[in-house]
Amino acid sequence: MKVLITGGAGFLGSHLTDAFLARGDEVTILDVIGDLKIRQHLGNPRFQYVRESVFNTEILDGLVMRADLVYHMAAVVGVEHYVADPYEVLNVNINGTQNVLKAAYKHNRKVVMASTSEVYGRNPKIPFSEDDARVLGSTRVDRWCYSTSKAAAEHFCFAYHRLGLPVVVVRYFNVYGPRLDKLDVGRVITVFMGQVLRGDPVTVIGDGKQTRCFTYVEDAIRATVAAGLDPRAVGGLFNIGNDREFSILELAETMIRAAGSSSRITFVKQENVYGESYEDVPRRVPALARMHEILGVRAETSLEDGLRPTIEWFRAGNGR
Ligand SMILES: NC(=O)c1ccc[n+]([C@@H]2O[C@H](COP(=O)([O-])OP(=O)(O)OC[C@H]3O[C@@H](n4cnc5c(N)ncnc54)[C@H](O)[C@@H]3O)[C@@H](O)[C@H]2O)c1
Repeated sequence: MKVLITGGAGFLGSHLTDAFLARGDEVTILDVIGDLKIRQHLGNPRFQYVRESVFNTEILDGLVMRADLVYHMAAVVGVEHYVADPYEVLNVNINGTQNVLKAAYKHNRKVVMASTSEVYGRNPKIPFSEDDARVLGSTRVDRWCYSTSKAAAEHFCFAYHRLGLPVVVVRYFNVYGPRLDKLDVGRVITVFMGQVLRGDPVTVIGDGKQTRCFTYVEDAIRATVAAGLDPRAVGGLFNIGNDREFSILELAETMIRAAGSSSRITFVKQENVYGESYEDVPRRVPALARMHEILGVRAETSLEDGLRPTIEWFRAGNGR
């Protein structure tokens, strides 16, 4: 099978590349960055790396035509981007997705689109089932642009599905593991990781009672592969996650313990980190019946077990 992965040099895309190459498939990735995350595959005759943007529609069209299955993972991700560059978030995540869908429609190729738990916004209903409402703040608050961009991309997927395109949408819940971003930037685990490895104070935002469900990358990738291969997934929307809930304070404590670090925990005001316009979501828990029953995958890795290889990867000097 020939698999095209947009954003394939990123965190999830690189692990997805590993998974399809391990199955014996051919993988082409399309990504704007040249990253160490896929360097191990350079020279593999079943692997092709095209350093280009999803905005190069000519290249994209040719790659989609030659693929049997398309994973659209390319996106502008990370809180610092929603706050610093909302234009780029909206443009890549909405218009870039449209480019992929247009090409897939032209060549009738199945698309799996990476979406996010952010789509639910601050819906107070726990857990979040796939068809639950989205509860968002004002469009004057930049933090909601990522959620909105991914929701618009999902709408495009389902609109194309009505036109006959096979699509699957997956919503990830805080996936982590080796190759996650760079130390000190991006997501909560990488920010804490830098602090924990240096023995610096771990800066918990607010009171640390806000919760998240952390999904180890291998579990998320098994579900992602199934989403692309299982015909029952077509037209579907799937939460991909682990439903064990941790407060951010518990995450900090677990990371300090797993790393054997001397770090202490300090609390910082949210507005000092992300500015006045940031709104945090207090709880986020996935309902996983569809992932379990249709994709046939369960998240099996505990937070401590997943953190150990993640810490080792960063401790070995990666992600700097
Ligand atoms: N990791 C998570 O916990 C998580 C959670 C929710 C959703 N997601 C979604 O999963 C997907 C992958 O996320 P990730 O965690 O691997 O992030 P990532 O930032 O590591 O990967 C995204 C990749 O997209 C690439 N990209 C950006 N703009 C591009 C463009 N114009 N053309 C081609 N490539 C471009 C980036 O260079 C990067 O390599 C994203 O769509 C993201 O929204 C991830």
